[in-house]
Amino acid sequence: MRGWQVRFLFCALLSAAVRDGAALEEELADSILGNFLDPLKDSSDHQRVRDAAVAKFSLREPSRPDDDLCYIIPGEAESLAACTFNSTAKTFMVIHGWTLSGMFESWMPTLVSALYKREQTANVIVVDWLSSAQNHYVIAAQNTKAVGQEVACFIDWIEETTNMPLDNIHLIGYSLGAHVAGFAGSHATNKVGRITGLDPAGPDFEGEHAHRRLSPDDAHFVDVLHTFTRGSLGLSIGIEQPIGHVDIYPNGGSFQPGCNLRGALEKIANFGMFAITDAVKCEHERSIHLFIDSLLNEREAARAYRCGSSDTFDRGMCLSCRKSRCNTVGYDMSKVPRARRVQMYTKTRASMPFRVYHYQMKIHFSSTVNTSEMEPSLTVSLLGTKGDAENLELKLKEKPVMNKTHSFLLVTEKDIGDLVMLKFKWKETNSWSASSLLKMVSSWWSGDSDGADMGVHKIRIRAGETQQKMVFCVKDPDTQDPTQEVTFVKCKGTWRTKPKRITSRVSLKSY
Ligand SMILES: *[C@@H]1O[C@H](CO)[C@@H](O)[C@H](O)[C@H]1NC(C)=O
Ligand SMILES: *[C@@H]1O[C@H](CO)[C@@H](O)[C@H](O)[C@H]1NC(C)=O
Ligand SMILES: *[C@@H]1O[C@H](CO)[C@@H](O)[C@H](O)[C@H]1NC(C)=O
Repeated sequence: MRGWQVRFLFCALLSAAVRDGAALEEELADSILGNFLDPLKDSSDHQRVRDAAVAKFSLREPSRPDDDLCYIIPGEAESLAACTFNSTAKTFMVIHGWTLSGMFESWMPTLVSALYKREQTANVIVVDWLSSAQNHYVIAAQNTKAVGQEVACFIDWIEETTNMPLDNIHLIGYSLGAHVAGFAGSHATNKVGRITGLDPAGPDFEGEHAHRRLSPDDAHFVDVLHTFTRGSLGLSIGIEQPIGHVDIYPNGGSFQPGCNLRGALEKIANFGMFAITDAVKCEHERSIHLFIDSLLNEREAARAYRCGSSDTFDRGMCLSCRKSRCNTVGYDMSKVPRARRVQMYTKTRASMPFRVYHYQMKIHFSSTVNTSEMEPSLTVSLLGTKGDAENLELKLKEKPVMNKTHSFLLVTEKDIGDLVMLKFKWKETNSWSASSLLKMVSSWWSGDSDGADMGVHKIRIRAGETQQKMVFCVKDPDTQDPTQEVTFVKCKGTWRTKPKRITSRVSLKSY
């Protein structure tokens, strides 16, 4: 027998044997996830399809992204021609996750359309494993391995039948589907080009050995978007650990703007779990919409930056692009040579296009004023050649310390062009009297309190998207009324007192 025929037998046996270990249902009741989804789960109880093949492969048409019109059947070469499979084109295989309804969710046709919009001649195949995914979570999670093996068989058969280079194959898996893609990649005889994991499922996979989940071994390039990690809640719907060559954590990997999970958590007493379910779905699914955004808005691609932690990123310390430290979010991500477990961060808007513009602002407070009791609240407006971004809040993670450089992250939703001016305002906080605050402010900005050389003279800015570095100085210190607002403009003349090399060493240190 030829290699494929042996494989085919194995594959045929496989689908008959899938899913008999179903005794773990009780576990779910104890898990956070079980409690969390209790109100929804009755519809899906105990539905299992034992005889049918587990995975079906529907080649969708660009004009009918919502409909399953033609299935490619492994072992039946004529089904390839019947579905007009193009063996020289890119092939995407989209793999859904766990389902309660047993139906495709509304993102599926949107993603299919977006893929065709970007790659017109591509084959976009939807992997339908709904019958095994519609189960208790624990069982559906167990099923990912067998389904992945079936997908691997399909890939082997396609390769053997059409001689298609596997670099053309890109698996895109959401939630549990990401692990299906991982198993498919590791069981396929040859490596596929790429796997994109969209918020890969966390429960039962977090902390598991690389062979039991999506991992960098499963494809030549594995990229992962994490949008709902454990972080703050104890609900790890999405996996928290890095599991690809490049792992991107938009907005730190949790609390996506526009999803209002925090609000839902506060309202839980009144509205029960349903308020949360919507927010959770929004967070988890955000990974898909970020990917769709990257397909549709190629020219407005969001950028992510390598960083040691979300906290460090939130201080603006990781906006460098040197040595592949930044990358494009989503489809156009460049493959980083020999990368493994590279963690990257980005901020996003609440809706498409998600891209924002990142700025690092470094302020050196050098006054002798005692600020240890202060809880200052600062807003800054950025004025640029193409527009302004007004009243952005500067979040002080710690109280300002004298003789120390503080770094902040600022983001704008629109492109303001080249930055030409900064305007600062102080908001009074309850614990500090207005008069002493203003006195302090004036001494900080203009340095005139004790006649010494103190105050904030320069602000250093690094723009993530353009990689420009700029230094801003107080505009006309003598004529400013620092109690209202302080304006900074680009420093004139010989502001660069240090040679460039030293400057970059300093910023590396802070990184
Ligand atoms: C098949 O795909 C290739 C590569 O994308 C493309 O050049 C060719 O036109 C496609 N053939 C058909 C019939 O669409
Ligand atoms: C600053 O104020 C704090 C709190 O009032 C005080 O403990 C500290 O000694 C002061 N530091 C200086 C240098 O005056
Ligand atoms: C900050 O530095 C200046 C000059 O080097 C010094 O006079 C001042 O005491 C320092 N302030 C603090 C709080 O360390």
